[in-house]
Amino acid sequence: MHPSHKLKIKMKNQPVTVPAIAKRKNSGEKITALTAYDYSFAKLLDSTPIEILLVGDSLGMVSQGHRNTLSVTLQDIVYHTQCVNKGAKRALVVADMPFMSYQVSVEQALTNAGILIQQGGAAAVKLEGGGRIVNQVNAIVEAGIPVMGHVGLTPQSVHQFGGYKVQGKNFLDSKQIKQDAKDLQKAGAFSLVLEGIPEELAAEITIDLKIPTIGIGAGSKCDGQILVTHDLLGFNPDFAPKFVKRYAHLSDVVQNAVIDFIEEVQNEKFPGPEHTYNMKKGSLKQVKNDR
Ligand code: KIV
Repeated sequence: MHPSHKLKIKMKNQPVTVPAIAKRKNSGEKITALTAYDYSFAKLLDSTPIEILLVGDSLGMVSQGHRNTLSVTLQDIVYHTQCVNKGAKRALVVADMPFMSYQVSVEQALTNAGILIQQGGAAAVKLEGGGRIVNQVNAIVEAGIPVMGHVGLTPQSVHQFGGYKVQGKNFLDSKQIKQDAKDLQKAGAFSLVLEGIPEELAAEITIDLKIPTIGIGAGSKCDGQILVTHDLLGFNPDFAPKFVKRYAHLSDVVQNAVIDFIEEVQNEKFPGPEHTYNMKKGSLKQVKNDR
């Protein structure tokens, strides 16, 4: 049975667009988004009513095994966006702009955003940061490329934060994050990821903005939620931050399946007759006689 049987919301078959996401503000229906890095996952996720697939630079940690997202390159994101785009026929594909692909200048940001759209096939790009990148956001939007903003605990600034720490807990920090959110809206962002901030601050920003907010570690009051798919599915038993809910424990499923495979190979139970090809009648005799 299709997994959406559990949902009250009907699966919409038409492609999800940027204006459709923007319109969801105050609609009462939450936006749902997940990360995707490859064709198989994108196809599977796209067969559910999930609306946004983010080719996040979290792929640096999840797929490439790095300690942070800083070494992910534009070419990495282009490649993974191409793979995701082949599997996503309905969900909106958003490509992350990796570290140092937009910070240097407006021109650099515009060129690289264009590459993610032209070569990767993304429908929109996401940039981390607030006031300091509004010129870049403005130029990208002016060029007709939709921008998703991202403020709060922005992982590309991990060294500046001194680790992955919740941001905006005190008045001055929360004021700055709120200002960043407003600046991004003014610069033309169509939606905004709020990451790693207190629920109260996320709620304030969500009420204040006309564009939808999508939270991760930002409580329940945002207009939508995003998670890293591998976290939601429980691929890494060692990674269990407070904001993640594991809806499955796929690490157990994968390990058990592999152990079953090893045992069956050792016991000569696999491959069985149902997995085995046989020669045409009489051919074996001919082969033997041919020795
Ligand atoms: O890179 C990423 O996956 C992200 C989301 C967690 C928001 O930026």
